Amino acid sequence: MNKFVALIGAAVAALALTANAASAQSPIVIKFSHVVANDTPKGKGALKFKELAEKYTNGKVKVEVYPNSTLYKDKEEIEALQLGSVQMLAPSTAKFAPLGVKEFEALDLPWLFKDDATYDAAMKGAVGKWLFKKLEAKGISGLAYWDNGFHMVSANRPLIHPADFQGLKVRISGSKIADRYFRDLGMIPQIMAFSEVYQALQTGVVDGCENTPSNYLTQKFYEVQKDITVSNHAHLQYAVIVNTKFWNGLPADIRQQLDKAMAEATDYTNSIASQENKDALEAIKKSGKTTLHYLTAEQKAEWQKAMRPTYTWAKGRVGQEILDLMAKELHVQM
Ligand code: LMR
Repeated sequence: MNKFVALIGAAVAALALTANAASAQSPIVIKFSHVVANDTPKGKGALKFKELAEKYTNGKVKVEVYPNSTLYKDKEEIEALQLGSVQMLAPSTAKFAPLGVKEFEALDLPWLFKDDATYDAAMKGAVGKWLFKKLEAKGISGLAYWDNGFHMVSANRPLIHPADFQGLKVRISGSKIADRYFRDLGMIPQIMAFSEVYQALQTGVVDGCENTPSNYLTQKFYEVQKDITVSNHAHLQYAVIVNTKFWNGLPADIRQQLDKAMAEATDYTNSIASQENKDALEAIKKSGKTTLHYLTAEQKAEWQKAMRPTYTWAKGRVGQEILDLMAKELHVQM
């Protein structure tokens, strides 16, 4: 009898141990989905966050990074975040309109940021903060902005003067401001998920696109575009966002470590973005598969003049308030 009781006792103790071990071992999982390659500023930033988050929380948090649209495509990923199927994303700010937040598109205005430093100051300052407030009502919290530099534009013919754009179909990622400035140049814009662009260019569904060198390189757009103009006409940036309910529900000590991991991953990403894009442009040049074109000051002025109506149009789209704020912060005329 005693032996039997002892056996039962041992079995109960073993079960309790297993249960404890299982709960100690099951980490909080953060699924981080994005659409670009690992070998890009955003891809590297996501992996850096994973490394630091897991280290600082001693493995209590596990970050699963899903690059290259393996989990969700552009629009789907934002819906998935709101539903809680994924916890963290870093979409380009051009993709927030389906959320009903159009103000972010103000960042897509052509020739808005004079240089990297102007961009950086605006996003770290009042503009970045003002925009993040707009997400609150949507159950989404903005944690950081990640940089990916300036856009180039391409087709299978040189794009040097506004007349060269006439009648070409161009892929855009979602922003109505981009839609507008390409229309100003006489193009026919079409919204398309990032993962579909290569094939659309290859098969002629669209004639051209815009993106940064790191995206042209890793998606191989340069292989199916004969001419790329290094125009720097607009800027590509990401908002790292989380599902607010999930984030606020985390234990305070864990969230503190994750905030630290995010702050460091952000500094890292923003510090490599410019060099990554320079290296990518160099690799594209070396491939010999496309021709790079650079605008003279006069040619740039022609583009700016042609795209100027977008600024007037933008008031009805993004509202006066963000335009006034940007005019003040960036010292530009709206
Ligand atoms: C695009 O769709 O062109 C970009 O938003 C891709 C990205 O996330 O860099």
